[in-house]
Amino acid sequence: MAPDVAERGGPMIRLGVNVDHVATLREARQTRYPDPMEAARLALRGGADNITVHLREDRRHIQESDVTRLVRELPLPINLEMSLNSIIVEFAESLRPAEVCFVPERRAERTTESGLAVRFLAHRLFPVVRRLTEFGIRVALFVDPVADEIEAASELGVSTVELHTGAYAESRDAASRAHRLERLRNAARLARSRGLMVHAGHGLDYDSVGGVAAIPEIETLNIGHSIVSRAVFIGLESATRLMKERMVEARRGGAV
Ligand code: PXP
Repeated sequence: MAPDVAERGGPMIRLGVNVDHVATLREARQTRYPDPMEAARLALRGGADNITVHLREDRRHIQESDVTRLVRELPLPINLEMSLNSIIVEFAESLRPAEVCFVPERRAERTTESGLAVRFLAHRLFPVVRRLTEFGIRVALFVDPVADEIEAASELGVSTVELHTGAYAESRDAASRAHRLERLRNAARLARSRGLMVHAGHGLDYDSVGGVAAIPEIETLNIGHSIVSRAVFIGLESATRLMKERMVEARRGGAV
């Protein structure tokens, strides 16, 4: 199927809402609420284009049962973030979400701290990427905005790279923010020139999102923590809508 305008980037930008943090709240007290499925439905009403979940090796938030319900019951594509852990890879193969995004994972980290070492892991990634692709799952790799990692992703034949926006989002002064945004721009351009779809995410909030949303090659932004945090005060539907509005405004050339 030929990619539409949205899939090619350009005038459209899509929002993937990461609902891990809803499950974090549930797991903190081992309750049955709040339900990530309910969160996903509210995000859909607020304009989310897909839902992202990370099934971590320690199962600290999202569980297999959450992913299964989301894939089977939600009328939106599910993007499953995961490591190369063989049990989780087998789970993805049996469930077949629309998309899988490989991220590096260390147990002691608070959240994903860096992009995947694609070239270093290429021999392990290659057979897994091939199998998942044969199952009709789009495969993305979460990478730092570094040319050689993007070239390595392209050589592996994945459909997508997700650019790590953490360094940009965390930059403290205008000069480093501008420099890191430029790195993201160059990385997005390179990835598109290699025929890859370009996603981005990590650490983006309502202030930092505009700069990244304005990069025309980027098709989807995956955002979780800031949206769920804002939802505590204004509800998840409104928090999602507000983020989407900022993204669309920036993409149309408005305030960033
Ligand atoms: N994209 C990837 C690959 C991630 O690992 C995460 C965090 O799970 C996100 C996006 C969303 O990051 P945040 O919750 O900081 O918005």
